[in-house]
Amino acid sequence: MLNSLNLFIFENLRRRKSIKKESLSKNPFYLRRMKEEDLPHVLEIEQVSFPNPWHERTFIGEILNHPISFPLVVVHGVQERVMGYIIFWHIHDEVQINNIAVHPDFRRMGIGETVVNMVLNKVRMEGARFITLEVRPSNFAARALYNKLGFEVLGIKENYYFRPQEHAIIMGKRWSQ
Ligand SMILES: CC(C)(COP(=O)(O)OP(=O)(O)OC[C@H]1O[C@@H](n2cnc3c(N)ncnc32)[C@H](O)[C@@H]1OP(=O)(O)O)[C@@H](O)C(=O)NCCC(=O)NCCS
Repeated sequence: MLNSLNLFIFENLRRRKSIKKESLSKNPFYLRRMKEEDLPHVLEIEQVSFPNPWHERTFIGEILNHPISFPLVVVHGVQERVMGYIIFWHIHDEVQINNIAVHPDFRRMGIGETVVNMVLNKVRMEGARFITLEVRPSNFAARALYNKLGFEVLGIKENYYFRPQEHAIIMGKRWSQ
């Protein structure tokens, strides 16, 4: 399973014309389940990515939450550096993306798009019919990413976020089969 994911990511990134760093086009990355040893790197990315970052114990809870939670790290194939992560829950035919971030050094290279696409393909093959997530209205980069991948606005959760306080936009995709 992981080998096919690695190949998927490498091939997808290789095809993209927007890769800005030569080293990334030469070096494959791979996805694997997050481990507690990854947390220093994950927390560093989390803290530079969100105004109200998750606490370490929240990540530990996800790591331990078998079989519902899928916390995955994106790892540089040569440097073994954690470049980003995605965390989603898959319960019956519903999926919720709870967190996704790419280290600022590696943004706008197609990693976020590739990883979300990989998750969409994986969960769909495993029977998911519905995938949702929440995003801040002010998060234009993430909203652009989800729009590009065909997510639609499903609703608003009022005053969902704090520090700073903001509504959440609920976005999702539904598959008929
Ligand atoms: C959102 C995030 C994960 C995107 O990751 P990324 O690897 O930089 O995204 P990609 O390079 O795969 O971009 C894919 C598409 O997303 C959109 N996008 C990504 N970053 C964007 C930006 N800064 N401005 C506008 N559009 C952007 C574009 O449509 C882009 O397609 P294009 O390259 O053909 O224009 C990244 O910006 C991040 O980690 N942000 C901080 C954490 C966060 O906000 N997470 C989402 C919480 S809901």
